[in-house]
Amino acid sequence: MKLYCVGCGPGDPELLTVKAVNLIKSADIIFAPTAKEGKPSIALSVAQRYIDKSTRTISLIFPMIKDRELLKEYWKRNAEEIARTVRSEKMVVYLTVGDPTLYSTWAYIHNELKKNYSDIKIEVIPGITSMFAFAAQAKISLAEGDETLTIIPACYDLNRIKQTVSLSDTAIFLKDGRYFDVVIEMLADAGFADDSTIAVAQDVSVDGEIMKLSKLKDLRGMKGPVEKYFSILVAKKNDRR
Ligand SMILES: C[S@@+](CC[C@H](N)C(=O)[O-])C[C@H]1O[C@@H](n2cnc3c(N)ncnc32)[C@H](O)[C@@H]1O
Repeated sequence: MKLYCVGCGPGDPELLTVKAVNLIKSADIIFAPTAKEGKPSIALSVAQRYIDKSTRTISLIFPMIKDRELLKEYWKRNAEEIARTVRSEKMVVYLTVGDPTLYSTWAYIHNELKKNYSDIKIEVIPGITSMFAFAAQAKISLAEGDETLTIIPACYDLNRIKQTVSLSDTAIFLKDGRYFDVVIEMLADAGFADDSTIAVAQDVSVDGEIMKLSKLKDLRGMKGPVEKYFSILVAKKNDRR
């Protein structure tokens, strides 16, 4: 009785590991997260070409809300369904976008399984995270030598992390491009100089990808550089070059 959690990379179906593809091909049942009933799972669409016709796919709902008590009910229900399926001796895969250890629904499923279904063994297959695919596309290095790198979810309280950002040489903002206007103003307040490099992307490695490289001063006061949840912003101080 084993569950495989497979990271399926940032979106390009060629950016899955060989191990991920082999497990997807041999699965009886594949679970994948989606935000709403009826909304296609992005993880499933990335892996689609590797899924056998006989494999059953099941989307599990993880709503995009901040009410933790309500979220916990979804986590419990989803983990229960996965556990029941694994116990039926099927080969079961749980798919996630990017890497399963970075801001992923997998964390909640994993906690529930450890707490309530400890007989189920778990193997996690790493995936290429969106920020590394982004850095490769933008041809920027994220950290060199003794530089520090901070990863921040943009859709929460940015005042809380202003001090951390001020001490970072590079800051990566994930989770929701619609907050990037506020991020840009915060970077200026946190001591990022006008000529700091700001790289912004939306839909990395899939159709419609948008990628922009600018200076902080060129983005200040402008309407959002991108507008979708699936966006990344990387800010690099250039003052140590
Ligand atoms: C719930 S987190 C999942 C992160 C994922 N586990 C990873 O390793 O990249 C979702 C956020 O990841 C980023 N993201 C994931 N895939 C992306 C893509 N193809 N293009 C741009 N951003 C992406 C966005 O910041 C999005 O809001």
